[in-house]
Amino acid sequence: MSKPVILTGIRANNDLTIGNYFGAILPMIDMAKTRSDEFQINLFIPDLHSFTTPIDHSQLYDQILHNARLFVAAGLPLDNPDIYLYRQSYISAHSELTWILDCFTGMGEMTRMTQFKDKSGSLNDDRTSVGLFNYPVLMAADILLYDAQYIPVGEDQTQHLEFARDIAERFNNKLGHTFMVPEPVKAQHAFFGKDQGLRIKDLVDPTKKMSKSDDSARGVIFLGDEPSAAAKKVMGATTDDLASIKFDPQNQPGISNLLQILALLQGVTLQQVRDTYEGQSSYGDFKKVVADAVESFLTDFQQRLAAVDDTAVIAKLEQSESALQPIAGDTLLRAQKAVGLRR
Ligand code: TYM
Repeated sequence: MSKPVILTGIRANNDLTIGNYFGAILPMIDMAKTRSDEFQINLFIPDLHSFTTPIDHSQLYDQILHNARLFVAAGLPLDNPDIYLYRQSYISAHSELTWILDCFTGMGEMTRMTQFKDKSGSLNDDRTSVGLFNYPVLMAADILLYDAQYIPVGEDQTQHLEFARDIAERFNNKLGHTFMVPEPVKAQHAFFGKDQGLRIKDLVDPTKKMSKSDDSARGVIFLGDEPSAAAKKVMGATTDDLASIKFDPQNQPGISNLLQILALLQGVTLQQVRDTYEGQSSYGDFKKVVADAVESFLTDFQQRLAAVDDTAVIAKLEQSESALQPIAGDTLLRAQKAVGLRR
């Protein structure tokens, strides 16, 4: 019996942020370090997803390798055969299964996807690509090809995860059992020990998600930011005029976001941080604590990144890609048989 699969992907459209780090990379690496005897770990770079919105293509190849190095700096062990690190476009079954799933997906359900609405809203119709529209179908293929059960993602991806379950169930009901349906999203959050997916907010506008594709980047902490510059971003974070620290995302989104970030950086629960700081009135002092924590986190992280061995990373990518090709190919064949393309 093969092991259940935990899988996640992080796009290479830009440098990664602390939102990506705490929302997806760290939960995945914790699993890789502590549970790889019970689970197969698939961490991949959805390189085909990386240009669903416009990017500078001259940077993409290097960005993909850079992101693989970031995972290693974050603690991904390279010497464990149950941990796979790979690039989506190197396993062609991802694209092939997408086409099949496309034909079982409604235009309406894709149009209703929040991320599509948000991202297409900032582009005009001719710059909104069919790839952006189709994004969740490729993401479902990424998950279903490996029978993945648990998929650690941030809150913004929950709807796409629901879609992966829906399309698997719909396909199975229509054409016979073909795909393993991932665990319900609630069960996944319970598995990763969270009530809900994480959503780190932008420092300047704490009502919106901190996003690596943000144009201004003033409210975004990138893993490659100069540590003292990142600390300055924290000192400039938008707060409120209530002069009392409280975790209240509705009325005090900026302060609540900083409390959350501090808990993650210190590796303690949000409740512990609340117990320490709630009720204090000096936002300046509190921001300084968060700014120092960000600065020392980035300094350490960047030191680890500089020590990553590129040859070992490339070897791991190539090994994982050849090992996974037949596995993805088997699932693709099941789908091809189900739709009548193969006997
Ligand atoms: P991407 O690259 O946009 O985001 C990567 C992961 O980071 C999480 N994330 C956040 N978490 C908390 N706070 C934030 N501010 C924040 N910003 C981003 C995202 O939720 C995500 O988990 N569609 C995926 C990539 C993908 C994928 C997959 C994931 C492609 N195929 C299959 C899982 C399984 C995405 O959003 O990437």
